[in-house]
Parts: sequence; structure tokens; C-alpha cells
Amino acid sequence: MNIQTVHWVLIGIGILLLLAILSYLVLKYIYHKPTGSIWLYLFMIFMFWMWIFTIYETSSKRREKLKKAGVKEGQVIVDLGCGPGRFTILAARIVGPEGKVCALDIHPLHTAIVAARIAIGGPKNISVMHADCCATGLPDKAIDLIFINDAFHEFDKVGCLKEAARILKADGILAIDEHEMKESKLLNVVAEVNLFSLAEKDKRLYKFRKLVDEGKSA
Ligand SMILES: C[S@@+](CC[C@H](N)C(=O)[O-])C[C@H]1O[C@@H](n2cnc3c(N)ncnc32)[C@H](O)[C@@H]1O
Repeated sequence: MNIQTVHWVLIGIGILLLLAILSYLVLKYIYHKPTGSIWLYLFMIFMFWMWIFTIYETSSKRREKLKKAGVKEGQVIVDLGCGPGRFTILAARIVGPEGKVCALDIHPLHTAIVAARIAIGGPKNISVMHADCCATGLPDKAIDLIFINDAFHEFDKVGCLKEAARILKADGILAIDEHEMKESKLLNVVAEVNLFSLAEKDKRLYKFRKLVDEGKSA
């Protein structure tokens, strides 16, 4: 958060505190209504701001993660195991109208939530797919980037890696953010399948590139 944002947030907190105190005083001394404690008002303001911060923090962090994963304007990407679309919507905004996001999940409720979010004003460059990560139904070599956040540990890893190698373009990226699996286990499974090499690592975000000869699967 830059200094100007902090400045405006502090001004916002000040205004809300003043409004809370003013409404408390008006209710108590002008209308003689039951007011509850001033601490309750201050607590409500505090909770409100915590909520605003949480929304701001998480969405800016998620956007940053997508950018670190390599999501760029104009790309065709797959959010594999998209869940309710926490990253899908932001990714669709980053790739923009020239790009496309395939939001794929095996759970029908999750895909229904993503579809509902699109219907109520979300970006329209998203196609929702109810499918297994090992059999996406997507064409060969069609995808610039596959993004898997907090889902790889739930997948059939070998099947998923083979499918990822099939649908990715030759210079495509497989970006996996994984906190549940041990790093050694994740890297071992990728090495065993022998379809990808690790190109970059940032904390628990791993970016893999396709090996040139993708036929050498274990
Ligand atoms: C922990 S959630 C993460 C959701 C989302 N990526 C996020 O970060 O908010 C894992 C998701 O993987 C999905 N999933 C599990 N197995 C799957 C499979 N075989 N194919 C596709 N999706 C799968 C689950 O339905 C769930 O939505």
C-alpha cells in the first residue's frame, strides 16, 4: 500500500470515528434514545475497517500472485481446480478482453458459483468447465498458462501433469502454488513424470516449463 492510500485510509477512519461519536451523542442527548456503549460503536467501526482491509489485502495479494505466476494481458489461461473463482475473476481482468480464462473444477457447486459470479456482472471472458483436471476436454497446445492454486495436492498428480503437458503450448507455463504438499514431494512427482522442468520458484509458487520432447513420460 503506498503512502497516499494510507493517508486516505486514515482520513476515512477519522471521519467514521467522528460520525460514530456524533451519532452516539445525538441519540443520547438530543433524542434521549437508548444508545448502548460508545465502545460498541467504536468496535463496529473497527470491525468495518478490518473487513475493508481484508478485502483490499487479499485481492491485491491474489492479483500479485497471478502476476508472479506469469498471467498477462491477451493470454489464454486455465484456472485448474478454480473453486468458487477467487483467482478466476481477477485473472480474467488481467488477461482482458483479448484473453480468456477457463475456470475448471470437478465440484458442480464451485462451477455454479463461478457461473453465477459471471452472470451478476463478472467478466465475460471466462468459460466455466465442470470437468476433471486429468481430462479437461481442451484442445492440444491451446493454453498459454495453467494456474493451480491450493489444489494440486487434491489431484491425481501424474494424470494432471500429463493433461497439462498436452494442453499447454510449447512455451506455456504451468504455475503451481502449493502449501499442503512438501516441496520435495511436489518436485519429485514432477521430475518422475518427466514432462516439465522447474523454471522459477517464489516461496511456494513453482513455475514449470514444458520439456521440449513431451513424449518421454514415465
Ligand atoms: C482448496 S480448493 C482451491 C480452490 C481455488 N483454486 C482457490 O485457490 O480458491 C481445491 C479445488 O480443487 C478442486 N478439485 C479437486 N479435485 C479436482 C479434480 N480432479 N479436477 C478438478 N478440480 C478438482 C476442488 O473441487 C476444489 O474446488
